[in-house]
Amino acid sequence: MTTTIHWHGLHIPASMDGGPAQQIPPRETWRPHFTIMQQVALNWYHPHAHHKSGEHTYRGMAGLFIIEDDESLALDLPRDYGVDDVPLVIQDRAFNEDGTFRYKTEDRDFILGMRGDVILVNGTPNAFFQATTGRLRFRILNGSNARVYNLRFDGDRTFHQIGTGGSLLEAPVEMSRVLLGAGERAEIVVDVSEGEDVVLKSFPHDARAVSANIEDPNDIENAPFPVLTIRAPDTPMESVQVPERLIDIEPLAEEDAAVVRKITLSMGTSGKGWFVINGQPFDMMRVDETVKLGDIEVWEVMNASPLPHPFHIHDVHFLILDRNGAEPSIDQRGYKDTILVKPGELVRLIMHCEDFADPMIPYMYHCHMLEHEDGGMMGQFVVVE
Ligand code: C2O
Ligand code: CU
Ligand code: CU
Repeated sequence: MTTTIHWHGLHIPASMDGGPAQQIPPRETWRPHFTIMQQVALNWYHPHAHHKSGEHTYRGMAGLFIIEDDESLALDLPRDYGVDDVPLVIQDRAFNEDGTFRYKTEDRDFILGMRGDVILVNGTPNAFFQATTGRLRFRILNGSNARVYNLRFDGDRTFHQIGTGGSLLEAPVEMSRVLLGAGERAEIVVDVSEGEDVVLKSFPHDARAVSANIEDPNDIENAPFPVLTIRAPDTPMESVQVPERLIDIEPLAEEDAAVVRKITLSMGTSGKGWFVINGQPFDMMRVDETVKLGDIEVWEVMNASPLPHPFHIHDVHFLILDRNGAEPSIDQRGYKDTILVKPGELVRLIMHCEDFADPMIPYMYHCHMLEHEDGGMMGQFVVVE
């Protein structure tokens, strides 16, 4: 089966990006090579085959791609991998009676995106982590095809969010929940020093379908469900610290933007397909946007559909200017490449398009509910000198 590998969150040339055009036929080898030219980030990789991103990712070909730099390595943060620095790749799967994965057998699997009733963390159902330290850092990826998680600890325990995927935050932010659409990441530090078990759960949230006739009657999202149990260290420990400052984030000014692009996500009304951007379903032969190398751009992403869509742009990292006119909350002021846009929401993003121009090979932007991406909610842009 022909597939591809896309480096989600990496700032690399389009020819190395692993989009639908960089196909790897069966039994052939693809040898991408690139230089890491970006700051600390929590990225990942997954297949991006034409119309098959969802199925190939669902079948398991995905993982994290962690980037550190001198600045991040100098911070007093947990970094003992698997001990106090723990990756959490959260995915959901549906199973057939014979134990195989069930994929896209119902209409709702396509329309709402493929969601399963079994939650896996790093590939494991009913996952637990045995803590041996009081301070834990979790690098969290929502690697699900479609499900949105509203993560909170039992008892509303607070934690510090330190990163947004594309970078760390300027300073840790005390939070009690983190909402992640498919493809989004977050880094948190939590204190379990008082020696009790803690359960990380996903709670009901408002980033869901607004029209009743496409609701899923068996939806596990109607009530909290467990994601991970943290078994506390045997003996209580000293309570924990996080650094006061993390990194500097240079703001991008709207006045400096050379271009404002309008990106409207909508569904099913034009007769051109179920999932469209600016009225058009994805067409590999059509380049939708041309970006000039070195420009600062503003993208206005409007969700004109009754479903939430996690909107993702390849290559660049963006900052959020505003959501429905309001400043982003302080936990969203780091760099990101994927942002959950709720029905009716207008999110404005600002980004600097640097380093790699290639008039022939496009980058993608799309909804990261992979069934929506495969269903047409994707476009292409080239960067030119
Ligand atoms: Cu993770 Cu084009 O996607
Ligand atoms: Cu990507
Ligand atoms: Cu979508």
